[in-house]
Amino acid sequence: MDGTTIDSPETSASDAEKLAHFEARAAGDDEKLAYFEARIARGEKIEPGDWMPSEYRRQLIRMISQHAHSEIVGQLPEGAWITRAPSLRRKMILLAKVQDEAGHGEYLYHAAETLGATREEMLEALLSGKAKYSNIFNYPTLTWADVGVIGYLVDFAAILNQTMLAHCSYGPYARAMVRICMEENFHKKQGQDIVITLARGTLRQKAMVQDAINRWWWPTLMMFGPPDNDSPNSAVLIRWGIKTRTNDELRQDFIDKIVPELHALGLTIPDPKLHYDQASSSWKTGPIQWDEFRQVIRGRVPCNQERMQVRTRAHEDGAWVREAMQAYAERYSTGVVSTSNEEH
Ligand code: ACO
Repeated sequence: MDGTTIDSPETSASDAEKLAHFEARAAGDDEKLAYFEARIARGEKIEPGDWMPSEYRRQLIRMISQHAHSEIVGQLPEGAWITRAPSLRRKMILLAKVQDEAGHGEYLYHAAETLGATREEMLEALLSGKAKYSNIFNYPTLTWADVGVIGYLVDFAAILNQTMLAHCSYGPYARAMVRICMEENFHKKQGQDIVITLARGTLRQKAMVQDAINRWWWPTLMMFGPPDNDSPNSAVLIRWGIKTRTNDELRQDFIDKIVPELHALGLTIPDPKLHYDQASSSWKTGPIQWDEFRQVIRGRVPCNQERMQVRTRAHEDGAWVREAMQAYAERYSTGVVSTSNEEH
């Protein structure tokens, strides 16, 4: 689906640009594309009714819907620990975090809907296994330390990526990211707090958190996506200001920030080749197992099937809520239920 409407000129545009904009109505896509790219170059946001290339729309729907699915599926590994959290305080914090993730999914599905994707299509793609979601949620959460490491490492990685996206060229996505990043910062802090507590705890607790770091380290590095030379979408996303940093740049930023923090806690990183490179002032890792990444994102791992079964059951169990809301909306639109009834 391609956008064909052209928005009113931005107030920041000069008269010449406004004229060019109106002339684009009668001109071909080349002129529209030039105007669209000039707006992005000026740092303006593209909004839902604006003209946009069909590839821009397609890329955004792909990315935003995958992102929404990740938030929703991401509730499952941590949600499984709500009843087993070690104190009432930890339980309440984890419950709030998992609820936040549902909210993030909601904002993101709305952002994708502004581009013409329907909720039904997106959910169908997820539940049928056609859609991707983050590789990270196809790993099991074996111990309480995993909840800490997800919050600390995984959410920190997500924050770096999403802080970039908060500046992306598509208005609804960028605005959703601002709020999501604020909440993710709390998520990171709760994870960091668990990791610090365990790292300073008994020998058994320390071993438990080290084991969690060992299992989550490499999948977290993979979250940033394949290396730049094997990232088919990056070029167009960067050209149109959806991404402003590459997968490798964000990954390196994460490594440089997290390695000293983990070392300061007395934790080790499961990479014998990890070393500090004086020339580039950065930490260099050994090779990442991209074969594993490809298997995981294709859903060829047990956790993927388990996540989809749980998600499908939740969707089916919630059918009565959707039907009730639909029935209410129909009665409301025909006047059977009035606003005054609602107030009582
Ligand atoms: N998990 C699953 N699939 C991935 C991942 C990942 N971590 N990284 C890349 N891929 C997929 C891409 O979706 C793409 O497949 P597709 O073309 O079939 O959609 C393929 O691998 C090639 O990757 P790239 O060309 O590098 O893809 P892209 O340029 O879109 O970059 C990235 C991937 C960085 C994940 C980007 O899409 C992005 O920033 N997405 C939004 C953020 C997001 O989804 N975060 C997950 C939230 S996790 C959390 O909240 C804890």
